[in-house]
Amino acid sequence: MLGRKPGIEYKGEDIKKGAKILVQLMKQSANTVVLTGAGMDTESDIPDFRGKNGLWRNMDPRLVASIDSFYENYELFHEFYSARIKLLEDIKPHDGHYILANFERQGIIKSIATQNVSGLHHMAGNKKVYELHGNIKRVKCNQCNHEAELKDFLSKKNCNKCGNLLRPGVVLFGEALPNDVWALAENDINKCDLLIVIGTSLEVYPVNQFPKIANGKTAFLNNEDVSFDHEFDIKIIGKAKEILQELNARVK
Ligand code: OAD
Ligand code: ZN
Repeated sequence: MLGRKPGIEYKGEDIKKGAKILVQLMKQSANTVVLTGAGMDTESDIPDFRGKNGLWRNMDPRLVASIDSFYENYELFHEFYSARIKLLEDIKPHDGHYILANFERQGIIKSIATQNVSGLHHMAGNKKVYELHGNIKRVKCNQCNHEAELKDFLSKKNCNKCGNLLRPGVVLFGEALPNDVWALAENDINKCDLLIVIGTSLEVYPVNQFPKIANGKTAFLNNEDVSFDHEFDIKIIGKAKEILQELNARVK
């Protein structure tokens, strides 16, 4: 937003100080929304995309996770998503996810908009979750959208309604985001008093526009600073779980 003053950045020893200030903003806010990215899930052992050990550091997403790769190289597409689905089989939410679920139950946050396809926010108990990039475990037919079982995708079965190829219900590079989910998230973020952004490089459009449309204060919680053309009111640089634990300890 034009004219917005850059906020203070807290890191290292100062994370506790930052948490104290953010809790004040949370207490002043009647309407707080959270936006999460892959950095929210790395402490549950799911790799992110652009962090230090991110998936896209050794792999071109256009080759494995784009709508073109689905049509042009289904073998590779299938191999990539099968490996990701199998990796997710045993994962569990971490303390940070559970803290966000408690925040929703207590009315401290209203909803979570997430770029993550892991389903961990639901698993932790959050009810109002906008999965902007879909959910990897919800398999569907690419042609007719008919839902299918996860095991059918893994065993390379085709759609039992129209015979076409199956795919995970995620947004692929080159595809638009689901309109209905987007509209709900946009509405909440537009009206919020405080938007807390957690664990995202903010490199992917259009979700990276959300901090700009938030009318209220904005906070950025990530283990590295990223260059982005929005001045957050506060930045806390550290691990998502630890920062959420610090917030949780002070919010009551
Ligand atoms: P990225 O991998 O781009 O960014 C994750 C950010 O989280 C990085 O800045 C990391 O440094 C940071 N991070 C990692 N671990 C963290 C931790 N424990 N605590 C705090 N921060 C941590 O992931 P996203 O921004 O979510 O798209 O990526 C956006 C989209 O790009 C994804 O949804 C995916 C990808 O291609 C689709 O699948 C459509
Ligand atoms: Zn079909």
